[in-house]
This record gives sequence, C-alpha cells and structure tokens, in this order.
Amino acid sequence: MTPLLEAHGIEKSYGHVEALRGADFSLSAGEVVALIGDNGAGKSTLVKILSGVEAPDAGRILVDGNPVRFESVEQARRSGIETVHQDLALCADLTPAANFFLGREVLRSGLLGRLGFLDNAAMRARARQECERLGVRLKSDSVAVSTLSGGQRQGVAVARAVTWARRVVFMDEPTAALGVVQTGRVLDLIRTVRDSGVAVVLITHNMQDVKAVADRIEVLRLGRRAARFSGADVSMEELVGAMTGALEADLAPPDAAGADAASEKTSEPGSADGEQKR
Ligand SMILES: Nc1ncnc2c1ncn2[C@@H]1O[C@H](COP(=O)(O)OP(=O)(O)OP(=O)(O)O)[C@@H](O)[C@H]1O
Ligand SMILES: [Mg+2]
Repeated sequence: MTPLLEAHGIEKSYGHVEALRGADFSLSAGEVVALIGDNGAGKSTLVKILSGVEAPDAGRILVDGNPVRFESVEQARRSGIETVHQDLALCADLTPAANFFLGREVLRSGLLGRLGFLDNAAMRARARQECERLGVRLKSDSVAVSTLSGGQRQGVAVARAVTWARRVVFMDEPTAALGVVQTGRVLDLIRTVRDSGVAVVLITHNMQDVKAVADRIEVLRLGRRAARFSGADVSMEELVGAMTGALEADLAPPDAAGADAASEKTSEPGSADGEQKR
C-alpha cells in the first residue's frame, strides 16, 4: 500500500548546523508512529518541514505517492496535516477559541454572516468542548492564552490539532507539561484519532508512552533515520541503543560470521545505512 506521507533524503542546515542529513520517514493511514531520538537529533526540524513551516534544502516529500512541495503551513493543512509544535505555536494574546479558529473563523448564519460577523459563541463552545475532552477545564473563555498554565496551553494546542486534522497529526512532545491524568487522556485521544483513520506521529522522550501507543517506531540520530521498529516487543535497550548509536556498533561485528548474524537480525534488504526493520 502506498504510504500516506513519505520523506526521502531530507536535508536542512541552519548556517553551519546540519539539522537533517538525508532523513527518511514514512507514515501510513491509521497508524501511530513514535519518532524518537536524542536532543538535537532533528525531530522537530523534520516535523517543521513535513508541516510546511520550513522548506527543506534537499529531498522529496510525497503524499499518497505524489511529490508535493509545502510552501506554507496552509498548504500542508490543505493536505490534512495538523501539528502540535514543541513550542505550541499559539498566539499568546488571543483566547483559546480564537487560537482554535485562527484562519478558520465561523461566520454567523444569514445576513450577518454574509456581512462578515463571526459566530463567537459557537466557536467558544466548540473550543471549550474539545478542550474538556482532554480534561483541560478553562475557567473563562475570554482570557488570553498567555494567562493559562503550561499544561492548559498544551491541552489547547493538542485539542486544536486533533480537531482539524483529516489525515495526519504531528505531536511534538505533546505531554511534556502534562500531569499523569492529562497525559493518559492525550494517549487515549491518540488511539481514538488513530482508530478514526488519521495517522499520528508522536515525538516524545518518554519511552513508556512510546510503548503504550506506538504501532511503529522511527529513530532519528544525527539528522538521519537510524532505525525503525514495528511491533511493541522492542526492548528499552534496543531503543536506547538505536538513539545513541550503541546498537549500530553492536550490529557492526568485525568478522564475517558476525556479519551474517547481524544481517539476519536486521533482515531487510538494502539496510546498509543501518536501517533496521523488525
Ligand atoms: N532555527 C534554528 N537555527 C539554528 N539551529 C537550529 C534551528 N532549529 C534547529 N536547529 C539545530 O538543529 C539541530 C536539530 O534540532 P531539532 O530541534 O530538530 O532537534 P530535536 O530532535 O527536536 O531535539 P529535542 O529533542 O531537544 O527537541 C540542533 O542542533 C539545533 O540546534
Ligand atoms: Mg524537538
């Protein structure tokens, strides 16, 4: 089956810093993929490129097998892609509802709507309802996002992305500011979203969360895909090993007999770049 979203050989530098050095990624409909890697591995950069925030220096992006070039966030959104950015990307001075409906404002019905009047009550109600699904209770609809707690803000960003995503939701550390209960709700929501056919990419440093929800795991290291694992039976040692590079060393034995054993373990043709599939 053609993947929903693919990235091949993505390169991105900021001045002298090579954030991505030929990164590959793929995603199918209705799966949760955990994208993991050490600090600075390039995860957020890859997400920004796949959600239209940044343009790659090189590489190809395909949606449903067709090459695309996201010139803007709006364009990625038109492909059904929504993102919870690591920095949340909320407008601090606006209310949660205004953030929710930024660029998607709901007009009043009838003549007032045709004159451009907004249906603020409907937008407030919808934003409140979506936030409450995540256990985020907003004391007032009319306060600016800047006055909310870190966890509430994170809830607003997650709820907003999930509300609008038709095909893919990227969540870059969506639970970093959340307590145990709210984290559990976000993980439940990820499963619900996946079951509705939308693919979810979860970026987190919490390996428990990864093991709890991921159907597949992609590991990024030094700006490239270092490994990928399918199934939940991957051990913590393997994940950490792939993130730090220790596993590569394990799988690069000095003699030929060892090399055979290693290729059995990776068992994927063309995995010379260290990519593994289980
Ligand atoms: N706007 C920028 N300007 C300069 N360097 C940047 C910029 N954005 C990212 N980088 C650099 O690119 C590299 C990859 O950063 P990125 O934020 O993608 O990593 P990450 O995997 O998301 O890390 P973390 O787990 O800490 O969030 C880092 O070395 C970072 O310093
Ligand atoms: Mg990041």
